[in-house]
Amino acid sequence: MQIDADMRALAATLLDWYREMGVDTAIADEPVDWLAQGDAAPGAAFRLPSAAADRHADSLPPGGERLRPGGTPPSQVRESPPLFSPPQGERAVTSRADARPGFSATPPDAAELAARSLAGKAATLEELETALAAFDGCGLKATAKNLCFYRGVPQARLMIIGEAPGREEDLEGKPFVGRAGQLLDKMLAAISLKEENVHITNVVYWRPPGNRTPTPQEAQVCRPFLERQMQLVDPEVVLLLGGAAAKQVLGTTDGIMRIRGKWRQIEVGGHPVQTMATLHPAYLLRTPAAKRQAWRDLLAVQTALDQGSAS
Ligand code: URA
Repeated sequence: MQIDADMRALAATLLDWYREMGVDTAIADEPVDWLAQGDAAPGAAFRLPSAAADRHADSLPPGGERLRPGGTPPSQVRESPPLFSPPQGERAVTSRADARPGFSATPPDAAELAARSLAGKAATLEELETALAAFDGCGLKATAKNLCFYRGVPQARLMIIGEAPGREEDLEGKPFVGRAGQLLDKMLAAISLKEENVHITNVVYWRPPGNRTPTPQEAQVCRPFLERQMQLVDPEVVLLLGGAAAKQVLGTTDGIMRIRGKWRQIEVGGHPVQTMATLHPAYLLRTPAAKRQAWRDLLAVQTALDQGSAS
């Protein structure tokens, strides 16, 4: 009896410690010993699903080209061109160092190249989701419960891109279903739009642990899927929610307060698409006074959609 009580007290102490460390959800029924995985980052066990690449990798001579953590030699992955490009004068930000003036773009690593190859082969959103579900190149997948692909309709005139799934999204496997999502739905309703009129997604498809901002590498490895998704959705207007989405899609290092409310044109699969960055609903929940600015941005989006294109 005393032993049971001691074990319960011990378990309660351990759970308290987990909670204080930021653990707020269990991701599997069985514990995983991450320490037993050596130094590899979660997700690093990724392999390009190409028999030819694997054959080649297996037959590399000792001292031949070193495998990246992804398992595939970079030279074996054929790079296809990016499917969307940021506005003229801006370029995609690939890392913090890259964001500093004078630094050249970091070469894409094997995981990103494989993502590009997989995403480029997807002819439909279903195929893209299947490819994403099988893709192990993003470390976020290892600690998430579910893939959060999109909410809304497959083709929409308005595509909305946020930062990353949170706890509720991870549990449900859909973007923007928590408190921020409820506010987003109200914002859309205010301009006469519903879930059936829009396509909602994020810069990364898995919840970052503890809801931290995705790293530039995590965003970058998901980017080919997002580019392909934009092509397949074929929107007229893309609304970017918050700084992370705006930075990733527009390739700018400017803060959200500077870039919000302005139309910028990007190219998606060779077609011009208008984008508008605005404040993230999670920020609006914390800072209700900023809703006025977001409202102005939404009205501009509504006008653009009413007129058939953004100006
Ligand atoms: N915040 C986001 O950026 N995306 C979600 O899906 C939920 C909250």
